[in-house]
Amino acid sequence: MKIKRLIKWSLLTVLVVLVTWLQIAYWTSTNDCGRRIPSGAELMKAIRYCEYGPPDMVLRLEQVAKPVPNDNQVLVRVHAVSLRFIDGGMLEDSVPGRLMFGLRKPKNTIPGSDFAGTIETVGKSVTEFKPGDEVFGIRAGCLAEYVLVRQNGAIATKPANVNFEQAASIPTALVALQGLRDTGQVKAGQKVLINGASGGIGTFAVQIAKAYGAEVTGVCSGRNVEMVKSLGADHVIDYTKEDYTKNDQRYDVIYDLVTNHSFAERRRVLKPGGICVITGVGGSGMHEETLSRFLGVFTASLRSKFGSEKFVIFGVDINKKDLAVLRDLTESGKIMPALTKTYPLTQTAAAYKYLETGHASGKIAIKID
Ligand SMILES: NC(=O)c1ccc[n+]([C@@H]2O[C@H](COP(=O)([O-])OP(=O)(O)OC[C@H]3O[C@@H](n4cnc5c(N)ncnc54)[C@H](OP(=O)(O)O)[C@@H]3O)[C@@H](O)[C@H]2O)c1
Repeated sequence: MKIKRLIKWSLLTVLVVLVTWLQIAYWTSTNDCGRRIPSGAELMKAIRYCEYGPPDMVLRLEQVAKPVPNDNQVLVRVHAVSLRFIDGGMLEDSVPGRLMFGLRKPKNTIPGSDFAGTIETVGKSVTEFKPGDEVFGIRAGCLAEYVLVRQNGAIATKPANVNFEQAASIPTALVALQGLRDTGQVKAGQKVLINGASGGIGTFAVQIAKAYGAEVTGVCSGRNVEMVKSLGADHVIDYTKEDYTKNDQRYDVIYDLVTNHSFAERRRVLKPGGICVITGVGGSGMHEETLSRFLGVFTASLRSKFGSEKFVIFGVDINKKDLAVLRDLTESGKIMPALTKTYPLTQTAAAYKYLETGHASGKIAIKID
């Protein structure tokens, strides 16, 4: 009897502590939107959102204080930002979004993560970069005229053969590079299928798999077939007409950005010992199928532990070394960003809306004049 009461009170205490903690976390979760800009601070333009909500309701072009680099940072004059799936997710009023980006209000109020620009000033201890260097990289909060980046952060010199909008589109290719090279261990002569071949990551995945010497099949909708072919795919399947899991082909690697087939369906088209690199659940934004696909990701990975075909959940590692690999691949002409739309900064909300359809083709960029 005593033990039962003890357990009951312990559980009740844990519950009260948890609810209190959540309430405190919720009410203390704030951002810098209400704060005054220090007098005398230099100003810059930035896209900001102070509350969660649809892009056209919450995104505003505002003046904020221009950041000043510390000893180990560089100040980049941003010329272009390319949007990726996480940028849209940051704005959304969803439970996962609130858990990741701030319970009551978004903590970081400037969105954007993939940039390209010119170094304006460098901190005292910076040796790798100098003012005037053209760079690209990943830094949260870059949808602004300037962004600060640590010299050891995800920043590298820009490929010489692309413009700033194209360069800003390249960092997302880390997802394709690492997924195919490290997790998929793609080798020359292997058959690789890219599901979601026409999107921001897929368009790079097709080119990177080709660069590794694979025979590549891309899966996309009919309107994107020609684009995926032009990127080098040997075969393209229009998913509105044909289901890749129902034909006779067998693949060494399935690089899956959509996860719209069951474990059994995908295993059937994998060669013995083949691997499915589970990378995404479809185009950017939250869709009806997103939650069930997320569950499919985990069940497939668990079920594959008992067979010779592996289903591995892949997560990108943002690092400087692989940005340099992407620069070299670009300069050697092996990859080229499939940039399909460019928007001015004032039309950032429209760019987000397009991305959130889940059917954006290739990459889209914001140009900052
Ligand atoms: N694992 C990681 O570390 C990581 C990192 C970043 C992103 N991701 C994930 O990767 C996924 C793709 O990201 P993204 O930036 O490439 O998105 P995106 O640019 O929005 O990709 C959209 C593409 O998905 C295609 N698509 C939609 N439904 C499809 C279907 N049923 N079959 C084949 N293709 C379909 C669309 O092609 P159509 O218009 O032709 O239908 C469109 O071109 C997202 O789920 C994202 O969360 C994962």
